[in-house]
This record gives sequence, structure tokens and C-alpha cells, in this order.
Amino acid sequence: MSRKILVTSALPYANGAIHLGHLVEYIQTDIWVRSQKMAGNECWYVCADDTHGTPIMLRAEKEGITPEQLIARVHGEHARDFAGFLVGFDNYYSTHSDETRDCANDIYRKLRAAGLIETRTIEQYYDPVKQLFLPDRFIKGECPKCHAKDQYGDNCEACGAAYAPTDLIEPYSAVSGAKPELRSSEHYFFKLSDPRCEAFLRRYTGRDNGVLQSEAANKMQEWLGAPGENKLTDWDISRDAPYFGFEIPDAPGKYFYVWLDAPIGYMGSFKNLCAKQGLDFDEYFRPDSTTELYHFIGKDILYFHALFWPAELAHAGFRTPTRIFAHGFLTVDGAKMSKSRGTFITAESYLNTGLNPEWLRYYYAAKLSASMEDIDLNLEDFCARVNSDLVGKYVNIASRSAGFISKRFNGQLAPADAELPAIKAIQEAAGRIVELYEAREYGKAVREIMALTDGANQYVDSVKPWELAKQPGREVELHAACSNALNLFRLLTVLLKPILPVVAAKVEQFMNLAPLAWADAGTLLAAGHAINAYEHLMTRVDPKLIDKLVEANKESLAPAAETAAVDSKKAAKTEKPAAPKEAAPAADGLCTIDDFMKVDLRIARIANAEHVEGADKLVRLTLDVGDDQTRNVFAGIKAAYDPAQLVGRLTVMVANLAPRKMKFGLSEGMVLAASNVDGKTPGIYLLSPDSGAVPGMRVK
Ligand code: 2FM
Ligand code: ZN
Repeated sequence: MSRKILVTSALPYANGAIHLGHLVEYIQTDIWVRSQKMAGNECWYVCADDTHGTPIMLRAEKEGITPEQLIARVHGEHARDFAGFLVGFDNYYSTHSDETRDCANDIYRKLRAAGLIETRTIEQYYDPVKQLFLPDRFIKGECPKCHAKDQYGDNCEACGAAYAPTDLIEPYSAVSGAKPELRSSEHYFFKLSDPRCEAFLRRYTGRDNGVLQSEAANKMQEWLGAPGENKLTDWDISRDAPYFGFEIPDAPGKYFYVWLDAPIGYMGSFKNLCAKQGLDFDEYFRPDSTTELYHFIGKDILYFHALFWPAELAHAGFRTPTRIFAHGFLTVDGAKMSKSRGTFITAESYLNTGLNPEWLRYYYAAKLSASMEDIDLNLEDFCARVNSDLVGKYVNIASRSAGFISKRFNGQLAPADAELPAIKAIQEAAGRIVELYEAREYGKAVREIMALTDGANQYVDSVKPWELAKQPGREVELHAACSNALNLFRLLTVLLKPILPVVAAKVEQFMNLAPLAWADAGTLLAAGHAINAYEHLMTRVDPKLIDKLVEANKESLAPAAETAAVDSKKAAKTEKPAAPKEAAPAADGLCTIDDFMKVDLRIARIANAEHVEGADKLVRLTLDVGDDQTRNVFAGIKAAYDPAQLVGRLTVMVANLAPRKMKFGLSEGMVLAASNVDGKTPGIYLLSPDSGAVPGMRVK
């Protein structure tokens, strides 16, 4: 029986461009949805722009337009970019919609009736010039810990400390520059700390319940606290006017905080789709629904999706998500995307440079797994992999056989050999590969598919159609060889279709096939099946295009503002005000605390160490720097250390050193070691922290 499935990807903010970091998620989700559709399941994929909040309001004001005009324009840009990358939403909507407002009001009223909404008066910074309450990211000042200037109201980028905006020294509004005033106002809270929410969330997020990946379930246990120790705090869901959002029912001048209505936007978008498609919304959202609901998100927004959102749904009388799939962030060439390096790449620039979206879809698929680990887009590897796998291996099978069928056999196929080992191997693996798609283990699926593609090429190499074609009297063999090859090609196309929908459509056209589905992996083409003329399926990546792309995305920025965590999206959401002023250099050759604090020293664990072929002094280190991130660093310590002895030990690294391209690869940092300055004491001594330190800790 076919399944009924509703799938979402996180809603992008309506004030920033879609970039390659965003696309990891949309491509991951789209592949999954396409695979479900190929299985014959009823699968709906919805998304929308996340349109509310102060940053969007201020951005519109800065551009001299209304928020409605801004979100309408960005909606068009986002829809264009997603279509460009073949992300096949069934509905791409907006949270600024009647459907989302109705759902938000409904949920709010039900939570209020359940006694889970409460009001409290809180004190908050207010900008007396702009006359608005300031979100934390719009208040700046001196870090109370390290005294770095111009730090945000929630945490310090120099020392990493987290604090409340009221802890900042000499705070100022990043919007107007005015000194903010503390003002009190009544806020609405969702009582997440209520014992009912706690009990529900312990059950729902528990490891055995299977809703979350195990890493995420562990994180939830941390956030919930040990049984008996409820660490949940109530959630402030209101913001005061002026605010771009939905006014709270019966609360004039109070608006729902953007994160309250954002996930409700999933419902709003689906409700809109239901009206268009004649679907029954309640069938998907009633508490006893037998349909499935999946949210694909980045690991940075787990808190909202695994705690607030299910607790709201459960206590407002709706079903809860079947599973929440969190993915990691994207790095480019081993480092955070950077505007100054040109690796903060927008979707639009990728397409405008003439790069094929299916190249990126394939590369991401090859790197993706079901875990929350970050994935790296290595631009050199991207070219090599696409050219070798897709053009050199996969397309090559068709381009070496289709022409002979058209020219010599009137476009008609001979029967395929069902016993051919390469054909049998694909048919046997197909079920396993479909399961890998279902389990989001795309990297494993791609590896299997490429191994099968190698098998198909070995077959073509062994029968050599190009030689048979030159030998009179070997027509039957030539016909059989090319027909087998095209059957192999068709089967491989079935397996790659969720990743390469356009190539698959071209293959369907040239091979004269109905839209391919998973069931087609079990069949072969009948003798006499007629194909159309072969059309070119995919070109090679020209590395010059990559250079052009990086150049097109290069912006010269002050160093402190140059990197952005790709998936934290803070860069898109908050307008980053002017870069911090440079601290005045100390006149006496000493460095100031501000200078010192610019060096980001971190604890790292040496996850791997190896000799570098052709290098006299270097050892290649893979450093675990915490948060599931690794860095590749070349260290000149070969004379003093055997790589095998280094694996597992902790050391200290400079984490914000600009990456350096070396003959042997990219070095993304530096490890610290002591060595002689007097010319007497020999040796190099790698620094180690005291026990208890863990990767990612800041050293200062
Ligand atoms: O982090 C973000 O980019 C949010 N706009 C995601 C919202 S997802 C959902 F909750 F709407
Ligand atoms: Zn600080």
C-alpha cells in the first residue's frame, strides 16, 4: 500500500539570497522526495519564505520599500533559485499568508485554553531613537569578559563568551547608534517548563522513540536535564510593535515572535496546497493521522523543531512530526564560506556562471549521509569527481553504444541478456540502493551505483562495440553488445534519477521511455524497442568556470567580518553593522589585549597524522576541532615526531589563520610547538593542554 507523506525543508528568511550552504538541505530533501515519488508513494514537499521579524522590517525600511514589497521580491528570487537547482516543491509559499495566520491563531488559542500561555513583564533594551525594542543581535557594546569592543548582545565573537545584552559594557543600538534604555513590557510565554510539556518531550525525544538521530536525541537529553531535573524554560513568543508579523489575538500591539509562526508556515503552505489539490488537511494533521510527517533541517535549529514545535503541536491537538532529520553545515575547501575568499557562493551566481545544477546535486549526494556531520565542498575534487563519475563513467556507456543502434539497426534494440553479470548485479543491488535513499545514506548509494557503473563499463570494454562495428559479419554481436549496454545504461539511470532528474528526463526522451520509477529497475527493454537519436547528456566541468565563480563571489571585507557560519543563517537574518574598528597598535612593540584576542587559539585533537609524500619537513594532520568539524593542517614537525605517535593527542591550534594553499594541499590553521631560539637546545615540542580540555575549547 502506498504511503502518504508530507515533507518540509526549513523556511529560508526572506531577506537574503539562497547560497550553496542552504542548498545542501534543499537538495538532500529533494532527492528523498523524488525517491519516494519513484516508489509510488503520495509524497508532498512544501516550503515557504520565513517572512517576519525585526531584521526584515528594518531591511525593507533601509531599501525604502514596505516589508510586503521586500518579501514579494525575495519570494521571486528564492523560487527562481530553487527551480534552477531542480528542487521540486509541490508548494513554495509564504508565512505572511492567511493560512499561516489562521493556523498560528488556532494553535495559540488552543495552548491558551490548555493553560500553557502566560504573560509576564520583562525588561528589555529599547532604542529611544528608532522607538523599538531591540533584538539581542541589534545591541552592541564591549564584551564584559575580554573587553573587546563592538560585540553583539548575545555573544562575543572575540572570546566566545555568551551573556545577556544587559551585561554589555557601554551598549549601543546597532540600528541608530543610540544608547539603549531598559524598558519593561508585558510578554507572552509558552510554558515549556510545564510538567506536561516536560513529560511529553522526554517521551517524544527519547532515544527509543526514533524521532531523532541519536546525536540529536543525546543533545535533547542534555537540554531536558536528568530525570527529575527539568531544565526547560518558558519561551517568549511575543514581540512589541513595531514588528512585522501577526498580531496576537486579543493582545493589541503584541505580535507573534517570528520563530512562533515559522514552523506553523509548514502547515500554512500545506493548507494552501490542500486547497489547490483537493487534499484533506486534517488527514495529515489530526492526532491519530496515519500519514507521515518529516522535517529536514540544519542542526542549528534543532531546538526549535525538536522541543518547541512538537510540544506546541501535541498540546494544541495536532499530530507530531514522524521524524526530524538534521544535517550538518557546509564548508568550502575545508573552511567556513568566506566572502573575501569568494567561497560564499550564491545559488544565482553558480547558475549564472554556467555551471550545471546537477553537478552540485551529484557532488552533495556523494558526500551526504544520515548523520549531522558537516560536509565539505572541495572545489578541485568537485571537478574531478563529476568529470570522472558522471561524464567519464556513466554518460560514456550511452555515448559508446547508442549511435550504432541508430545508424546500423534502425534504432531498434536486440533482446537484452538477462543473465549478463553486470545486469544481474544492478538488479540485485537496486532494492538495497532504494533503502539507502530512504535512510538518507546517499553517499553509500552513490558509491554502490558507481561500482555498478564500473561493472557496466567493463562489459562495454570487453565487447568493444567500436571494433565489432568495423568487422563485417559481426552485426549480431554488435547489436547484442549495444543493446545490453543501453539496458545497463537505462538501469543505472533509474538508480541516479532522484539525483539527476534532468539527465533522467533526457534519457527517457532519447530512449523512448515512460517516466522511470523504482519498479523499472526490475525490468529490461523488450526486443525491438525503438530508441530516438542520442542527444548529448552532460558536459565536463571546466575548472576555469570554478575560478570564474569564485571571482564573481569575491567581496573585499574587513577581516573580522569575513567569515560566516554557512548554515547559522545569522548572516542573512541580521544586518551585520560596520566591521569593528581596528584597535590602535601599542607603541612599545607590545601587543594589546585586543590584538591578542584576535588570535583564535583552540584545543584540537589529532584525529589522523600522516607523512606527506615529497615533503621533507611536513606531517599532514587532521585535527578534530569540536562540533564535528575537522581541519587539515600541514605542520613542520616531521623531524621530531613519528605521525603514528601523534594520533589521539590533544594540542593547541590557531583556528582563525587564513587558509594557505600549499603544494600538497590546503592548510587550514597551525599547531603550536615550542622550539629553540638560542640555537642550543634542539627539538620541536608540540604543546599539549592539561587533562580535561576537549577539542574546540578556546585558549586564552
Ligand atoms: O533558520 C532559519 O533560516 C529559519 N528561517 C528557519 C525556519 S524553519 C521553520 F521553522 F520554519
Ligand atoms: Zn569577549
